[in-house]
Amino acid sequence: MSERHITITDNKSGKSVDLEVKTGTHGPPTVDVSGLYKDLGYFTFDPGFMSTASCHSQITFIDGDEGILLYRGYPIEQLAEKSNYLEICYLMTYGALPSPNQLENYSSMIVHHTMLHESLKTFFNGFHYDAHPMAIMVGVVGSLSAFYHDSTNIQDPVCREISAHRLIAKMPTIAAACYKHSLGEPFQYPRNNLSYCGNLLHMMFSVPTEEYVPDPIAEKALNLLFILHADHEQNASTSTVRLAGSSGANPFACISAGIASLWGPAHGGANEAVLDMLHEIGDVASIPKYIAKAKDKNDPFRLMGFGHRVYKNFDPRATIIRKTCHEVLEKLGDQSNPLFEMALQLEEIALQDPYFQERKLYPNVDFYSGIIYKALGIPTNMFTVMFAIARTSGWVAHWMEMISDPRQRISRPRQLYDGAATRDYVSIDQR
Ligand code: SDX
Repeated sequence: MSERHITITDNKSGKSVDLEVKTGTHGPPTVDVSGLYKDLGYFTFDPGFMSTASCHSQITFIDGDEGILLYRGYPIEQLAEKSNYLEICYLMTYGALPSPNQLENYSSMIVHHTMLHESLKTFFNGFHYDAHPMAIMVGVVGSLSAFYHDSTNIQDPVCREISAHRLIAKMPTIAAACYKHSLGEPFQYPRNNLSYCGNLLHMMFSVPTEEYVPDPIAEKALNLLFILHADHEQNASTSTVRLAGSSGANPFACISAGIASLWGPAHGGANEAVLDMLHEIGDVASIPKYIAKAKDKNDPFRLMGFGHRVYKNFDPRATIIRKTCHEVLEKLGDQSNPLFEMALQLEEIALQDPYFQERKLYPNVDFYSGIIYKALGIPTNMFTVMFAIARTSGWVAHWMEMISDPRQRISRPRQLYDGAATRDYVSIDQR
């Protein structure tokens, strides 16, 4: 037994066991309960995983009380100011900032995987024009495994790397195709001379009939948003990717599962829900009424974009995005954006209310991001798709970390069963 452990004792049976305390680089110590059932015949009980560390990881660290977010040890504030999204993808996957040559090779690798198999395009015709793009993303990304058999041998590190490149490269192409499908416009091929974000804007907004040059302001804003959304430790969608991957499922199916989980309004779907909420509130005068609804336990209404399972302080990403909102709206000549004004008022009023203060409910990453996406001309139902593109770098990094960990086993939680006790079958004529 290591020199540090916790002893737990059942005061009824008198049985006790020493549980090893494991500590990491940052963050609270953990109690290793993996042997608890074998040694003491008990499960731990932690619905929603409020106090559960599900794995080892070296990718992202969050300190919710201090509002700290690190990608591979680098503070998000420094990366947001100095890095770019493709460099973050490299950092997530390989664990170190790339040299100029490494970044050039990596960028070239990604650029040359951006096209889709031509047969894949027919999948979109199976969806109505008004299908939610996240529904299309779940289907089309999952179907990639039908086209790339050559890179689904997850035990081969080369296959894992190619799959990672394909996923990061193709997400913008698939996302843009979802948008074009909704418009009935032709899909635009990626352009190898454009940046990752510039290419996405080109594939979404260009048409065959005229030249299109991505707006550098929009390109810069997207790049920042993608950096801020790239990863976030063991959030619901990343945990979904890890759980799916633990069974040996192919990476495309795992990322599709992650997209499905991200779609929920309590998670990545919140950015779309924030805009819908601001439209529902309508004007600043109505804010108090909606704050009251958010506090009313009998009312299902929640203030979307507020609160976080981990952050009990400002979400550092929200702070950066709020600042960018000002800059982007100013440059796009949209300073008097009523939605942004209302969001600022809503934040101010909520943060003065004891209900939000006592529960440490602050704006999260989703509160302001939709306002920027809307200012860039991206439709509300594409906001979570933008989140999915950005988070693919994190999902892929966690999937690779898990699969290449020799300690990795299938994840299979247990339960506290409080259903019917054992009973005999009653034939229908006796019921
Ligand atoms: C993301 O995990 C991640 O890292 C996620 C993410 C990432 O990058 O991957 O950061 C991205 O998903 C951000 C969160 C986006 N979701 C929303 O903005 C939806 C609105 N927020 C809530 O649904 C909620 O705050 C959650 C889901 C984010 C967190 O839920 P928890 O941790 O389970 O907290 P809870 O529901 O137990 O709430 C605690 C209390 C409750 O009141 P009491 O029962 O104590 O009286 O706070 C209240 C809740 O009713 N509360 C809210 C609220 N959020 C929590 N009340 C009103 N409005 C809210 N938004």
